[in-house]
Amino acid sequence: MAQVEIKNEGKTVEVPDGASLVKLEGKCGLLFACKAGTCGSCRVRVLEGMENLEEPNEAEKQGLEMFGAEPNERLLCQARIKGGKIVIEY
Ligand code: FES
Repeated sequence: MAQVEIKNEGKTVEVPDGASLVKLEGKCGLLFACKAGTCGSCRVRVLEGMENLEEPNEAEKQGLEMFGAEPNERLLCQARIKGGKIVIEY
């Protein structure tokens, strides 16, 4: 199992290795409105463990560009975790 620490909520959620992080829906306060990479509601800063995420898919790349996201930001409705642990805040 992989771990996602949500720093601003002070909690850690476990998800299967290789899972889409849309699995965090309902397990944290983050909203997943469109689940298509177009609304930005699931945009987070990755504080640690960026290497444990798969590279952004096309939908995520386009969304991040559209929102002018920083290099350490990701859209969790599109991102997949390889394994290990990441630390995020939103
Ligand atoms: S839920 Fe809309 S961009 Fe992720």
